Amino acid sequence: MKTSAKPKTSKKPVKTAGEPILIPRTQQATDLRELFTDSLKDIYWAENALTKALPKMIKQASSADLVNALTDHLAVTEEQVTRLEQVFGLLNEKVQAKKCDAMEGLIKEGEEIMQSTAEGMVRDAGIIAAGQKVEHYEIATYGTLCAFAKILGENESAELLLLSLNEEKDADDKLSEVAELSINLAAAGETEDNSEEN
Ligand SMILES: [Fe+2]
Ligand SMILES: [Fe+2]
Repeated sequence: MKTSAKPKTSKKPVKTAGEPILIPRTQQATDLRELFTDSLKDIYWAENALTKALPKMIKQASSADLVNALTDHLAVTEEQVTRLEQVFGLLNEKVQAKKCDAMEGLIKEGEEIMQSTAEGMVRDAGIIAAGQKVEHYEIATYGTLCAFAKILGENESAELLLLSLNEEKDADDKLSEVAELSINLAAAGETEDNSEEN
């Protein structure tokens, strides 16, 4: 009987019940540069996904201010995709996307909010809430990427990533402004209308 069977060396991620999937050691990031490029691939996927998600949000939005804010940010997002391609170029890395589970979840949540709210002010408020979660995720991501780029001495990349970071902050501020101005005004108007009826 043969007893020299080799242990299985499967290259597939190892999954133990209830534990995160473990990537084989050969594929794990071993230095900050690798983690940096992995994170770039992640946000590249996320930005591309947003160029498809934003038009759906624009279609569902009622307030002109919200439509404008989202339309402006769609154009900004498309530029951010190009900017990330520039960063890959600066790092001599292949332009590559890696599925971002977090952004996929945030976009899915946004779709659910749009389906479960009545068109008008309430759906607009839901779109703003979902949009701001996306912006906060992007702010966190670009903040980290900027820090990584600086530590790695990739100053040109850091400058480009900082531009995107600031655009995400502006988008977040703009959404807060739209919420405070148009949606709160509309909500107040509806309340007044209701009280007049009574
Ligand atoms: Fe973005
Ligand atoms: Fe954004």
